[in-house]
Amino acid sequence: MLCVNSVSEAAHAIRRGQLVGMPTETVYGLAADALDAQAVLRIFAAKGRPRFDPLIVHCCDLAMVRSVAVLSPRAERLAQLWPGPLTLVLPRLAVVPDAVTAGLDTVAVRIPDHPLALDLIRASGRPLAAPSANRFGRISPTTAAHVLEQLGDAVACVLDGGPCRIGVESTVLRPDPSPLVLRPGGIGREALAAHLGEAIALAGRDERAGALPREAPGMLASHYAPRAPVVLRQPGQPWPDDAACLAFTGHDLPATAQAEILSPSGDLAQSAAGLFAALRRLDARQPSRIVAELVPDHGLGEAINDRLRRAAGLG
Ligand code: TXA
Ligand code: MG
Repeated sequence: MLCVNSVSEAAHAIRRGQLVGMPTETVYGLAADALDAQAVLRIFAAKGRPRFDPLIVHCCDLAMVRSVAVLSPRAERLAQLWPGPLTLVLPRLAVVPDAVTAGLDTVAVRIPDHPLALDLIRASGRPLAAPSANRFGRISPTTAAHVLEQLGDAVACVLDGGPCRIGVESTVLRPDPSPLVLRPGGIGREALAAHLGEAIALAGRDERAGALPREAPGMLASHYAPRAPVVLRQPGQPWPDDAACLAFTGHDLPATAQAEILSPSGDLAQSAAGLFAALRRLDARQPSRIVAELVPDHGLGEAINDRLRRAAGLG
């Protein structure tokens, strides 16, 4: 297995039904031809991912989106935000294999904002199904090296696009009958609401908890877990000196703490971009536990806090 910068080589692998590590603006994806059920099943096998957890289909333009899904007027409006870190859950067309959607009558679609991803989709001539390129339940990859670490044996090649700009996965949104964020991610709810001119609920918080077991089947509490147990620090609690610490600004960290600081200036975009790599570095020290603090719960903070809660085993 090797790292390549040749899109045509990677596209050949896709057309042969193989898996390719694909950079996007959010995290690296494990890509296969979305219209080839056998290739899609290889994704589930490589990740150790349960088959009931459906995949996102990545397209290079709206014409390709329309070849797999139906856009309502609200979806059309949201599609103006593409390319970008927004995934829309839409009624599917019959061409999409059940393996992609886990048998649901909807399909999750996005146009990623990364030149190598767009080139790969275009060169393959196919929409690409791609979950994050990590083993199931582990931390998502934000560099080509992370992909090689966990899935090096499973991929024909990895396209190296450098570190991902956004660093957390896309926001998954079901536009209809009323807009609902199923997974907070790379575009905040405030920005989406401003674009649509209407409020947007967050599943599990604004809706009755547990009312949506099949809506976001992949949202299991164990996601994004390092090997060390993660514990959330309560506000005001002192930082421990016998654990690895994941701090937001680090302003109240003792000098002796073994710590990673997400953003000394309190910037949420910088925090998101470095979040998964920081968790990996802390985990590599093999601490007895990782103590992490939540960040302000707006904009990208909603996605960061969601990932931290899941890493801590809280839904
Ligand atoms: O940023 C991203 O979204 C990355 C990059 C590679 O594009 N991909 C990613 O894929 O995070 P994955 O498979 O790790 O997460 C997909 C999420 C899961 O929570 C899944 O349950 C949800 O999207 N999903 C997919 N299809 C769905 C559907 N038809 N209805 C509801 N949720 C769906
Ligand atoms: Mg994932």
